[in-house]
Amino acid sequence: MKDPVVRLQHVARAYRTGAVTIPAIRDISLDIAPRVFTVIVGPSGSGKTTLLNMVGCIDLPDSGQIAVSGQDVLALSDNTLADFRARHIGYVFQAFNLIPVLSAFENVEYPLLLLDIPAAERRRKVLAMLAAVGLEAQANQRPNELSGGQKQRVAIARALVKEPALVLADEPTANLDSVTGAAIIALMRQMQESFHTSFIFSTHDERLMKEADQTFTIRDGMLVP
Ligand SMILES: Nc1ncnc2c1ncn2[C@@H]1O[C@H](COP(=O)(O)OP(=O)(O)OP(=O)(O)O)[C@@H](O)[C@H]1O
Ligand SMILES: [Mg+2]
Repeated sequence: MKDPVVRLQHVARAYRTGAVTIPAIRDISLDIAPRVFTVIVGPSGSGKTTLLNMVGCIDLPDSGQIAVSGQDVLALSDNTLADFRARHIGYVFQAFNLIPVLSAFENVEYPLLLLDIPAAERRRKVLAMLAAVGLEAQANQRPNELSGGQKQRVAIARALVKEPALVLADEPTANLDSVTGAAIIALMRQMQESFHTSFIFSTHDERLMKEADQTFTIRDGMLVP
């Protein structure tokens, strides 16, 4: 394999709620190939979101090592880590995580504001991305005025707009009808081919599983060989 885009070594993460400890990821080591579609499958509760959150640098493991694009992310300070994430990682959250007071346009624009991109260029990129996901007409609507599938498409547009090297997408087609789902998969494939983006998906969607260049199955927080 070319240098992996993500390398996990003996990563473990448990959630502690009161006296109860839930081992979500027990001991996972894996290398994710760059510039391809990697799919993570596994039953509900197997640890997919927990894993993606750690790769996305929004959660830390209790133990183990995580390297993203060769960078040991656990060695970075909070500020450097936030900057690294803003520049290199796009994240499509399972629950979308759109900002409720912002319109669709403003939600997609937000990551570009963090990167100090000038207004005219921001506008051009946001409009192009909203068109790519078929939401030109909804640009001024807020999340509570959008359907589930439309919110999901805003979340996808927000993750892709800065053309990050790595996109993590947690069930990105779960709420989409088959035509829109296929269009979104085609859009991501096109990005991967044009910009050599690395994509990591969790999914239950057969169509997306079929697109995988590399597949990992997890169960009870462990890789299934
Ligand atoms: N914030 C949390 N606090 C406590 N337990 C959690 C938390 N988040 C997840 N868990 C537990 O960790 C385990 C893994 O959850 P995770 O969300 O990673 O699974 P998943 O594979 O993404 O599931 P799904 O397919 O339903 O999205 C589950 O047992 C879950 O109940
Ligand atoms: Mg999940």
